[in-house]
Formats: sequence, C-alpha cells, structure tokens
Amino acid sequence: MKANEKVNILMVDDQPAKLLSYEVILAELGENLLKATSGTEALEHLLKTDVAVVLMDVSMPDLDGFELADLIRQHPRFQRTAIIFISAVYLTDLDRLKGYERGAVDYISVPVVPELLRAKVSIFAELHRKAKQLETLNRELEERVAERTDELERRAEALQKLNNELARKNQELDAIVSTAPDIIFSRQADGARDYISDRFYEYTGAVTGSANGFGWLDFVNPEDRERSMSHWLRCVQSGDNYESEYRMRGKDGEYRWFRARAVPIRDFEGKIIKWYGTCSDIHDSKLLEQSIRDSATQLEKLVDDRTAALRRLSGRLLTMQDDERRRIARELHDGLGQELAAAKMMMDGILEKKSAQSNRRAAMDASEAIDRAIQQVRSLSHLLHPPLLDEVGLLSALRWYLDGLTRRSGIETSLQVQPPEFPRLGAELETAIFRIIQEALTNVYRHSGAQKAWVTLTHRENRMVVTIRDDGKGIEAPVAELHPGSVGIGIGGMSQRAKEFGGELRLSNLVPGTLVEVAVPFLTFAKEKAHARFDPVGNPA
Ligand SMILES: Nc1ncnc2c1ncn2[C@@H]1O[C@H](COP(=O)(O)OP(=O)(O)OP(=O)(O)O)[C@@H](O)[C@H]1O
Ligand SMILES: [Mg+2]
Repeated sequence: MKANEKVNILMVDDQPAKLLSYEVILAELGENLLKATSGTEALEHLLKTDVAVVLMDVSMPDLDGFELADLIRQHPRFQRTAIIFISAVYLTDLDRLKGYERGAVDYISVPVVPELLRAKVSIFAELHRKAKQLETLNRELEERVAERTDELERRAEALQKLNNELARKNQELDAIVSTAPDIIFSRQADGARDYISDRFYEYTGAVTGSANGFGWLDFVNPEDRERSMSHWLRCVQSGDNYESEYRMRGKDGEYRWFRARAVPIRDFEGKIIKWYGTCSDIHDSKLLEQSIRDSATQLEKLVDDRTAALRRLSGRLLTMQDDERRRIARELHDGLGQELAAAKMMMDGILEKKSAQSNRRAAMDASEAIDRAIQQVRSLSHLLHPPLLDEVGLLSALRWYLDGLTRRSGIETSLQVQPPEFPRLGAELETAIFRIIQEALTNVYRHSGAQKAWVTLTHRENRMVVTIRDDGKGIEAPVAELHPGSVGIGIGGMSQRAKEFGGELRLSNLVPGTLVEVAVPFLTFAKEKAHARFDPVGNPA
C-alpha cells in the first residue's frame, strides 16, 4: 500500500439516514466509504474487502454492535481491525468495559460531533495505512533477507569447496616438503624466518621451532655468518633473488656446505610480502670441486717444473752437442787427420825414394798409420752409435763397451745378468738402457776414482732393474737427491730416459762408492717385449 492510497471505511447502521449523515461527515477524508445496514451485510463487506475502520451502531435490531464485534474478532484476519461504536444511549462504564472486551477501540456518543468523528476515523485510517505499508515493507524485507540468505548459503558452499581444495593442496605441499631432500624455508618481508622444514631439525638436531626468526644463524659456521647475513639483508632491501653458500653444523658437530636460495613474493602493488627458499647440501660436490682445483694446480706446477727442467736440459744438451762436435773435430783433426797426413807423407816418400828397402819400410809405416786411422774411425762411430746393439743385442754391446772401458781406463768391470738367457727388450728400451749404463760408467771414470765397477741387469716378474755400482769416493747428498742445481746433463738425461719408460732413477752413496739404480715397470717392459716378438733382432718397425 502506498502513502496516498485510499483505505476502506465500513459504516454499519440499520438506519440509512444515519449512514447518509456519516457519509457526509466523512466524505472530506477522501477515503472509500462502504455502507451496511445490518450485521450480516457488514460481515459480507469485511470478508470481501480489506477494511481499515468499522463504524457501527451499538443497538441494531437483528445483530447488535457488541454481537457483531464478537463475530468480527473471531476471524483471525480482523483481530486488529479498528471498531468505533456509536451509541445513542448513555453508556455506563460497565457497558464500555463490555465493548472493550469485545475489541472496540473507541466510542462516540450521539449527537455526533462531525469534527470528532472525522478526527477519530482519520487517525485509524492513517494507522491502518501505516500498518499496511509496514506489512509491505516487512514482506519486501523478508524477501530480501531470503535472497541474501540464499546468496550467503551459495557463498558458504563455494567457500567450503575452496577450503577443501586448500586442505588438499596443503596436504600435497606437506608431502612434497617432507620428502624433499632440501631444507625448505619461508621468511617474512623483514627477513626473519617464519618456517623451516623438518629436514633442518633432522640435520641440526635443534628443537623444532628454535630456528625461526634469526635462530638458524646459530648453526652457521662463524666464519660464514657475517658474509651470508649481510648479503641476505642486502637482498631484503633490494628485493633481488638471494643465493649464498655457507657451512652449517650438523648434530654430529661437523660442518657441511649448503647453498641457500630464496625468491621474494610480492603483492599486487609490488611490495614484498614473503620470501620462499631452499637450502641444499652441496658438501660432496664442493669438496670434489676443491680437489679438482687442487689437482689442477698441482698438475700445473708439475708441468711448470717439468718444462723448466726440460728447458735446462735442452740448453745443456745444446752445449754438450757443441762440446761433442768440438771433441769429434779435435779427434778428427789431431788423431785421424795426423795419421792420414803421416800416411800421405810416407806415400809421397815412397814415390820419391828409389831404394826398395826404404820403400818397404815407408809402406809398412803408412799401412800402420792407416790401421790406426781405421781403428779411430771405428771407435768414434761406435761411441756415436754402438752398431753391435742393433745387430747382436744389448748384452753383446755392453760386453764390448765394458771391455773397451777397462782397456782405456784400467777400471776393472763386470756384467751380471739374471736370468742368464735375457730376453730382447725392443730397440728403444735397449738403447735407453745402454745409454744409461754408458753415462753412469763415464761418471765413474770421470768423478769417482774407482778401481772397480759392477753392472747388473735383472728381469723379475713385474719389472726390470739395472744397477751400476763402483768403489769410488761416492756422491754428495744433493746429487743423490737429484737436486736440480747439483746434477748435470748426465744424470738429468738418465732420469729422463727412465721416466720415458714409466721407470725411475735412484742414486745412493754406499761408502765406499756409488750405486745407480734404474727400475722400469713390467707393463712398459711387456709392451716393449711385444714389439720385440714381432722383430727378432729388436729393430723398430
Ligand atoms: N760415480 C760417481 N762417483 C762420484 N761422483 C759422481 C758419480 N756420478 C756422478 N757424480 C757427481 O755427480 C755430478 C753430476 O753428474 P752428471 O753426470 O749429472 O754431470 P757431470 O758428469 O758433471 O757432467 P755431464 O753433464 O757432462 O755428465 C758430477 O759432477 C759428480 O760430482
Ligand atoms: Mg756425467
């Protein structure tokens, strides 16, 4: 009902004239006026339409006002319908009480004062209109409440679904976090940790929850603490991704290397609200990396040392070569040259002289000079490269060399071979061993002052050993230790030759005398032997 909508006013009186007069009085209210001349007619109106006020005569012939009021009130719809009684007779207080008991709301006595009647009816009409409006509003409100309730229920349902989904996701996340090999953590925007997975507590043995905030720092190695902490705080300031490596103490008290990484999570405005990160054990790979680095450094140093030694050696070698050339030139000039010059002079003498006897003498001298020259050419060429080595092998070449040395120097020499039927070793290894023995014996001759020298060759299961011993004055400690400043090209070359075959050179002072030992491992030796089997005379393929 709207604010200006008309309401129905029912006037009940058995006298039409009275009804007419009420109609006139109430007309100016502008409401709908309904008339009934009997109680029955009045009830019919009431059942058909909504009535705001019933104006009724107390005394009517068939159904008096009180009885009608009784009937009206019995009906639930009319419980609150306003009833105004009009009474021509004086009503006692008892009568009025009777009326109120039956639901009357007001009385008007005759003669009716028009203004009073209008005022009373108007108030009830207005009251009814307001009540109706209130009802409409209430209905609308209820509808709206019902709509809202529906919507809230729908939302609650959706929320419940989301909650279930979230719980499932949380379970999945828990499973991932608890099975992950890494430590997983989150940090607040200010950098304090607010979650660390169980992996951390398993590793450190700390009490659960104690690592939150900055408690985890207690387990970081004091040497790494300052560095990783200040780097972390810088990232919190700048919002850059965080990565750092530090050592963390385990429950056994040992430190292991970890790599921590964290990324910021931002809100819609780009403000950091949280950090998430992992902490992985990189100890083993870190150690491996370190040992690779160390080995590389060692290797570099070794290569440098070797390169320097080779440089020194090649320098000395060039000088040696020059010396050797000079010596050969001198030998050729002073020995071979002199002998040939003498032979030439003798031959020239033969051509000039006529006496047969003197010719014969000169020819004999010339022949001897030529013999000596031939001998010198042989010695020279043997020293440059012992031809016997190629033809009859290491042992025969050594015997020939030792004989020559004894003859030239007076040093007594001996050669012992074990086993006696010594195998061929291949051209390269045999040459190397020959040169090593030659150099060692040259040193004996030049430096030791020895009377005797012993050479042995032993072929045992997994290696071959060569020794050269003398009874001379022995060697100084720096030489025995192969100190680079103390050994010359001779020992340097011996050592180099041994290494080329995976072997090793050792010098020791025997008091009296010096022992030179060279050991070549079986593998290299076997390889050389394999070559030798294809080539019985030991020449390289
Ligand atoms: N059998 C030995 N008895 C005593 N001293 C020796 C013996 N062998 C070597 N030495 C000492 O070791 C030093 C180094 O020997 P090495 O053969 O390396 O050089 P070198 O003989 O002096 O010169 P080169 O380079 O011409 O051989 C010798 O100078 C010598 O003092
Ligand atoms: Mg020498």
